[in-house]
Amino acid sequence: MPRILSGIKPTGAPHIGNYFGMMRPAIEWQDRGEAFYFIADYHALTTLHDPILLRKYSRDVALDFLACGLDPAKATLFRQSDIHGIGQLTWILGTLTPMPMLENAHAYKTAIDRNEGAAVNLGLFAYPVLMAIDILIYQSNIVPVGRDQKQHVEMTRDLAIKFNRTFGDTFTIPEPSILPGVETIRGLDGQKMSKSYDNTIDLFAAEKALRKKVMSIVTDSTPVEAPKNPENSSIVALFKLFAPENDVKDMERRFRAGGTGYGDFKKQLFEAIWTYFEPMRARRAELEADPGYVESVLAAGAERANALASQTVRNVRLATGLQ
Ligand code: TRP
Repeated sequence: MPRILSGIKPTGAPHIGNYFGMMRPAIEWQDRGEAFYFIADYHALTTLHDPILLRKYSRDVALDFLACGLDPAKATLFRQSDIHGIGQLTWILGTLTPMPMLENAHAYKTAIDRNEGAAVNLGLFAYPVLMAIDILIYQSNIVPVGRDQKQHVEMTRDLAIKFNRTFGDTFTIPEPSILPGVETIRGLDGQKMSKSYDNTIDLFAAEKALRKKVMSIVTDSTPVEAPKNPENSSIVALFKLFAPENDVKDMERRFRAGGTGYGDFKKQLFEAIWTYFEPMRARRAELEADPGYVESVLAAGAERANALASQTVRNVRLATGLQ
């Protein structure tokens, strides 16, 4: 049975990009292997320095994940910071990590390009090393991630190979798994959906807020009567994620025919999103009514994950001569 691992950073409410890129594939994988999923709170700390928010987002992301179908009887769900040895192994792997490799990492490069100055901290620079340890500490085989994380998984592989060459076979070499079709989810402005572009649609936004978001999708100024091109429309691209093929074909046909305004297509998209998440919203409300539930799932998950992690920590300490 392959061991599957992925993480999600609690820097805000999960959005549709997180859902299709990572959460849904992760939930599908839980039936096909030994799944470990975690809330990457150490990673969140590279940009979020607000304890109340970090606590809230961490709990909410866990709740959203469970509401979407993560089954704690099949998959192990835990908090990154509950695992002993993550910091220790990140340090050790850091001593094998070439600076130029990290200078090439896209999150760091973007921060530099945006001139974020002092906000570019050591944690952000070392982000890929921490992420490599997240993966390697459980000897993971498969890492389901969104397209934006591919580079990080490739760095993980390179670092694991380098470690094994230097100190002997210690880490399993993981593979990324990126689903075709949902490689890049478009946001409200047509760019990749991302919290840092402020163009996201949250999974569990309230009805009014969700409607407002969907209605704010950027379109061109083609008049109602005129034919429209469905091919580069964010509305159609998003609709594809939620609607059956026939409905998508129908929308494309009505785009080409003209006579329907973007506003009507957006309403249809809103309905599709709202309906899609209906059962998950109901489940979320149920889970939320039991305040101790999420914590109990995370505590049980941490115990299982720690059992695996501690073996790797021991092996790394022996291999490197720390012990
Ligand atoms: N960097 C990932 C993101 O921003 C989150 C993450 C942290 C992760 N550690 C991981 C994903 C390990 C997969 C495996 O989405």
